[in-house]
Amino acid sequence: MSLLSALKNYGLSKKLLKLGLNQVQNCIVGCGRLVGRFDFPVPPNSSMRKTGSKTIGAYYVGGIRTYLPIATCARREGVRLDQNIRILDFGCGVARGLLHFTRDYPAPAYFACDIDDTSIAFIQKNYPQVQSCVTRFSPPLPYEAGFFDMIYSVSIFSHLNMEDQATWLKELARVTKPGGWCFLSTEGLVSLRLRFPGLGPNELQSLRQRLLQEGFLYKEYADWQEDVRRQATLRVASHMVGVERSYGTTVLSPDYIKRHWPDAGFEVRAIVGGVVDGQDLVVLRRV
Ligand SMILES: C[S@@+](CC[C@H](N)C(=O)[O-])C[C@H]1O[C@@H](n2cnc3c(N)ncnc32)[C@H](O)[C@@H]1O
Repeated sequence: MSLLSALKNYGLSKKLLKLGLNQVQNCIVGCGRLVGRFDFPVPPNSSMRKTGSKTIGAYYVGGIRTYLPIATCARREGVRLDQNIRILDFGCGVARGLLHFTRDYPAPAYFACDIDDTSIAFIQKNYPQVQSCVTRFSPPLPYEAGFFDMIYSVSIFSHLNMEDQATWLKELARVTKPGGWCFLSTEGLVSLRLRFPGLGPNELQSLRQRLLQEGFLYKEYADWQEDVRRQATLRVASHMVGVERSYGTTVLSPDYIKRHWPDAGFEVRAIVGGVVDGQDLVVLRRV
């Protein structure tokens, strides 16, 4: 067996390619900094791609697309982003949203957590003003009850199955102050077409019908277990660091959210369709 086919067999070639891209990107960022092109922390290419961003520009603009609707809805609801309130980025990844939040609203005390230690290492190195930590796939979070004025989370509930969603909603409610706010993005009716590409109009229509009838769709990633198994080899390039159970694509209907999410202790104030990079933004107030 040739070395190349051996690498392919173990799924290593793709991962080595990712690490090669990290080196290429390091050179681009180094040169870019010399000419004043990048004035913000740029994560390794392999981590950046976990946010769906193939280029540094896409990472930056993607951050604006996710941060701006959350900040706008928060301000509209009266959240004082200009004061020293406590804000948690739940599932922060490599700071796509934090980059813009901390720049545009420096007054709050920011906290961030993620199950992926490679992402948290990036945050700890580049965002000393953010208190970040690695957390587990299941609750609890390491914060006392009622600790946060505001929590936001982009593209985490869009990956969890119904059971994990319910336990995380309860945990987020626990650590939110009474009267505090949660802004959570979910895949909804708008993003159906984006997440299930290749479907014809009829198939799309029947999927939409199913979503409206059943309230949710969950499609487990075919490769999540395989990815977790292979993390021992090139962990940094894995998409599922920290994942302990089923992981996939989850789509929720607005009706389902309105009926079930109050069980966790939230009032559903609004569901703004498609505004967070195609995902819906669910605006919740802790009762
Ligand atoms: C698609 S990425 C989004 C990252 C970031 N919020 C952003 O918008 O760029 C999903 C993130 O959720 C994290 N994650 C998944 N399940 C989690 C859990 N149970 N608790 C905390 N973070 C989780 C992953 O490690 C990953 O960083």
